[in-house]
Order: sequence, then C-alpha cells, then structure tokens
Amino acid sequence: MIKLGINVDHVATVREARKTVEPDPVWAAAACELAGARSITVHLREDRRHIQDRDVRILRQTVRTKLNLEMANAEEIVAIALDVKPDQSTLVPEKRQEVTTEGGLDVAGNLKAISQSVRKMSDAGIVVSLFVDAEEKQIKASADSGAQFIELHTGKYANARGEESQLKELQVLIDGAELALKLGLRVNAGHGLNYTNIGGMHKVPGLEEVNIGHSIISRAIFVGLDRAVREMVALLHGPGGSATI
Ligand code: PXP
Repeated sequence: MIKLGINVDHVATVREARKTVEPDPVWAAAACELAGARSITVHLREDRRHIQDRDVRILRQTVRTKLNLEMANAEEIVAIALDVKPDQSTLVPEKRQEVTTEGGLDVAGNLKAISQSVRKMSDAGIVVSLFVDAEEKQIKASADSGAQFIELHTGKYANARGEESQLKELQVLIDGAELALKLGLRVNAGHGLNYTNIGGMHKVPGLEEVNIGHSIISRAIFVGLDRAVREMVALLHGPGGSATI
C-alpha cells in the first residue's frame, strides 16, 4: 500500500501573500493527518518564501505521523535540521529564482558534500532521502552517499503528454526503482502528481510513499482539505488505485 505524504507549503504561500497568520500550515497538517495522510512535508527554503522557522518548530511538536523536512544541502538549513530533528529530511536542489523545485539533486556531482550531510543527519537519528531523477548515475551515487531513501522525481512523467510518452516516462521510473531496490535503497516518489496521473504509481516496484502538494491543496479550495486528502488516499489504497494508464 502506497502511503500519502502531503506537502503543506502552499498553505503558507497563501499566508505569506498577506504576511499574516492565516491560513496556518500547522492547522493544515493536522487536518491532513486526520484525513489519512501518513507524513507531512514542509520545505524550509533559504529565502523563506512560504514555510517559516516557526512552522517547522511547531510542526515538530504537533505532527503525529512523520515530519519530513525538505531542504537544500545548505549549512544554515542543515544546522536547523540537526536542532529540530524532523523524522526525515529530503535533500533537494534549490535555486532562488525557481517557481518550484526543478530537476533532481546532482548527487553524483556533489557526492562528498552530500555524504557529509547524510552522515551528520543520520547520526542525529534523522532518516535521509535524496530527491533524484531516475538516472542510473544519480541512483548509484545516492546508494554510495549512505542515504536510506531516494525520492524519484516524477515531474517528467507528470508533464508527459499522450499515452506513449507517459508510458515511456513511467518505465524510466520503474527502471529507476528497480535499480534503487537492488542497491538497498528505499523508494519514495513525488512532484507533479495529481488525481489523474497517480494511477501509474501503482506500477512502480517497492514504492513506499508519494509526496504531493500542489494538486491536493488546489482541490482543497473547492472541496475542502479533508475531502481532497481522502480522495487521494482512496486512489492510493483502492484496488489497484484508479489507474489512468
Ligand atoms: N517532492 C519534492 C521533493 C518536491 O520538491 C515537491 C515540490 O515541493 C513535491 C514532492 C510536491 O510536488 P507537487 O507540489 O507538484 O505535488
């Protein structure tokens, strides 16, 4: 059964549009957990454009499932992680100008620096996951880094137009997961997943968890957060999900 992790950053995006106190991502996290989410993700970006330090610290106290801190491999943020001790940290590449996380992390090109952070955080009891494209080079480097998990970047699959190209991108994810499992890594996936493309994830071997933000928070505007989460949980837990491809 694939577990649902929810990224509540965009609740903070709305709050920061007014630099006020609502809506509160802490409330959103509790609502998501009550509706069946098994993990809450927040991305503490270096520019603090949505999630604030206060959010991470309160969520550490309130999240009852798993707190996953998405973060750049930056000294300041690693120090916060070591202090707050989320259950998991997911290292992602971060560029100030980007609208959202773009490619996967270049683990192969930064193996030494990434391995050092993986070690520091693992020693502090934090499970570390690396957000990577499903490329052999990056997956092998992830295994070498000592990380327990990778999160496969599903953006290309999500953006693929037409069945042929969607199936091609899905196969890339399947091959990536197979390699990761063979190397002893555990596998999560995320980025761009929504109510119509989630079905393909049932075909990815050994997939433990998907992390979804934008599509669930968007649907919540119309149907409420509780229903938006329950609908996604049903697609993940139902018989084979509602595979669209
Ligand atoms: N996983 C990672 C590593 C991400 O960076 C993001 C985007 O913040 C997500 C999952 C969620 O992506 P989306 O908002 O497109 O569902």
